[in-house]
Amino acid sequence: MPHIKIKKIDTVTLEKICEVCDVVKFVAKPLSGDDMLYGVKHKGEEFLVQLKRAVDSDMLKYDKVSRPLKVDLIKEVLAKLSGEMDLEILTSNISLSTTKPPLSSKYFKKIEDFASKELVFDKISSGKLSFDEVSIEVGFGSGRHLLYQATKNPNILYIGLEIHTPSTQQVLKQIGLQGLTNIWIVNYDARLFLEMLPSNLCSQIFVHFPVPWDKKPQRRVISPSFVDESLRVLAPDGRLELRTDSHNYFWYSMETIFALPNADVSIVKNSRLAITSKYEERWRKQDKDIYEVHLTSHIVSEQVDREIDFSFAECGYRDGLQDDIPYSAIVEEEFFIHFERVYSVGDDGLLIKCAFGSFDRPEHKYILIECETTRYYPSIPVETVVNYKAHKKIMEYLKCQQCQPIL
Ligand SMILES: C[S@@+](CC[C@H](N)C(=O)[O-])C[C@H]1O[C@@H](n2cnc3c(N)ncnc32)[C@H](O)[C@@H]1O
Repeated sequence: MPHIKIKKIDTVTLEKICEVCDVVKFVAKPLSGDDMLYGVKHKGEEFLVQLKRAVDSDMLKYDKVSRPLKVDLIKEVLAKLSGEMDLEILTSNISLSTTKPPLSSKYFKKIEDFASKELVFDKISSGKLSFDEVSIEVGFGSGRHLLYQATKNPNILYIGLEIHTPSTQQVLKQIGLQGLTNIWIVNYDARLFLEMLPSNLCSQIFVHFPVPWDKKPQRRVISPSFVDESLRVLAPDGRLELRTDSHNYFWYSMETIFALPNADVSIVKNSRLAITSKYEERWRKQDKDIYEVHLTSHIVSEQVDREIDFSFAECGYRDGLQDDIPYSAIVEEEFFIHFERVYSVGDDGLLIKCAFGSFDRPEHKYILIECETTRYYPSIPVETVVNYKAHKKIMEYLKCQQCQPIL
């Protein structure tokens, strides 16, 4: 990840950086410690650049929580800072790539694109996007199955979800090379993503060879809430298809499904698909059994109209606010909040690094409190019910006006 190691410069110069560089909008200093954060805005994107201090050098580097998807933006800002502040660079890895990053493809969708429903799903339901059906593949890996399905069914829109960024980049490249126009790639956790979809949207949800997570079952894709959400998102007669080589995962999934009050389930052992993924090839060579489970939906689910609002009402900075912020994690039944680090921003502002939301899928954000306004930085959390419940609790700690109750 981009960084530059620079000859040590004095604190006064570093604090005055906003006056020299117009991309820097604020400087945040921790209440304890001597590293700093610079809030930058470059080409319409907001993110933080971190200054790490050592005895004989300083380092300017990206910040993990706020980093933009396009790495070149961070490199450009580091180059700008070093040029405009006349920094003496000791080592650097910020040479700009000349090739177009695949994540700039129009088939790459950000999670925020789905928050604004009219952007995506209204187009599908109003026929502005000419697809008959929508299918989802969770954890597509090398993408063999996803690409094969999309080629075979040009009338179906495939939404592929994958948390491993290099895999998403590779598949985006393949989409371009193969000239496919019916795949959207989302680099996001599928378990959270389903919650953002309208009910009765999909004809199929593929989960092929999910990581078994035998030692950390809470990280598994299949869970009671994932099965519930899948049934809500599936159209009547739509189905969830699980393929696994793991005996444990198969039985765990069966138990999860049979905990439902009704379930139409079928199981096929050692069936072959027209396309074999890399994982499946490996297991076949080892003569492992492959289990395929189909769960078919027969219900028309109600639409969930969640009025989720992550604004902080009229909340702004007040004297002594930093002393009211608890530093140990707050654990409630469904969610937690951990105010990890507090930075001061000028004389009347704070930047709080915060983790919150569900225990196995936490959000990591900053909260930027300025004189009269407070907001999540650089962007609002994903619109899930658990995140909203955590947000309401955060507002209580910041003593903001109560927001609307969730429906
Ligand atoms: C064992 S690989 C299987 C890949 C592919 N389906 C196949 O059959 O070759 C599991 C994939 O799921 C992805 N994955 C794991 N958890 C995920 C989640 N919660 N959301 C989206 N992708 C996930 C992993 O990054 C990995 O690429």
